[in-house]
Amino acid sequence: MESITEKRKLDRENTLRPIRFIEEKNIVRVIDQRLLPHEFKWLDLKTVEDVIAAIQTMVVRGAPLIGVTAAYGVVLAVLNTVKINQGDDFLETECSKIKAARPTAVNLAWAVDRILAEVRTVKDPDQKITTAKKQAGIIEAFETESCRLIGVHGLPLMEALCEAKHGRTVNILTHCNAGWLACVEYGTATAPIYAAHEKGINIHVWVDETRPLNQGARLTAWELGRKGVKHTVITDNAGGHLMQHGLVDAVIVGTDRTTHTGDVANKIGTYLKALAAKDNGIPFYVALPSSTFDWTLTDGIQEIPIEEREPHEVRYVQGLDGGKIRNVLVPPEQSPVANFAFDVTPARLVTAFITERGVCKPTREDILKLFPEKREIP
Ligand code: MRU
Repeated sequence: MESITEKRKLDRENTLRPIRFIEEKNIVRVIDQRLLPHEFKWLDLKTVEDVIAAIQTMVVRGAPLIGVTAAYGVVLAVLNTVKINQGDDFLETECSKIKAARPTAVNLAWAVDRILAEVRTVKDPDQKITTAKKQAGIIEAFETESCRLIGVHGLPLMEALCEAKHGRTVNILTHCNAGWLACVEYGTATAPIYAAHEKGINIHVWVDETRPLNQGARLTAWELGRKGVKHTVITDNAGGHLMQHGLVDAVIVGTDRTTHTGDVANKIGTYLKALAAKDNGIPFYVALPSSTFDWTLTDGIQEIPIEEREPHEVRYVQGLDGGKIRNVLVPPEQSPVANFAFDVTPARLVTAFITERGVCKPTREDILKLFPEKREIP
């Protein structure tokens, strides 16, 4: 991976995307999210190995972006397969490696399988490359448009909250980063928030810091700040207290994998927020593009694979110290540590899903009303 420091001052209005495919060079350029908000750097991914490492080390993260990065990883795999004169068997092995990079976000396998299926139908090597590039572009466009539409369908929910509060500030709580950094544009959980902000709704966001990697404190706060959305970073444990005191009007989160029965896997700690929201009668919305539905799994708690990551992410906290990004040790060095990256919120705790096709209840029946073409899947 090669890094390029972003020299130009970031323009507040500039619509950034966390990923670009540079056609002339056949490379994937991504924002290195490990360094945000203190340093802004692009990284160039030139090989399948680079793509896998970027996904595993969280240079890129968030379910839709993992899928889009994997899609461009398949493009690199096809280019290499043609270059070294290999066939579909080699390509499939490379794709399996990409799919194994992270286990929980289903967008990864969804994107890889979609491109592979199209590339397999083509014989000519140059055509395989053209097909892979076209399909990766389609996936990127699909995720972008889905997030825009999540904003469109989520806006009436925000307007209803605003009306109920007679114009007083609408307080939304969110967990992790489900913003444009995790997607391509708009974000999932943030799409209704941005739509409401643009419409002039008085909105404020409680941002869970989201230990261990602090995607909320580092990424969501940075995103919201750039867009001028009022927000406050809170510790992960503060949500219940705020809800008890009427300071949260709704929770909106993203998801990494959602069963067609409505169970939601998302960043560790999401389940506790859903429990607290239920106890306090606060709506708990999950925003997702259809690429995040897993149409094959029925019981989220038993069946969704939960990633366990390296202990050093829990042991160390990263921050800015004297102008330099540093990691500092928190617990005793010898204490054992566990690092479960996701948890599953059962459907019964979810108020509704906000998807690119509309809002639905977290039941198989209601989800299939929006996605009837998935009915034949048992
Ligand atoms: O481990 P991460 O940072 O990839 O986890 C991301 C999340 O849990 C997001 O909430 C989820 O992917 C939804 S992104 C739109």
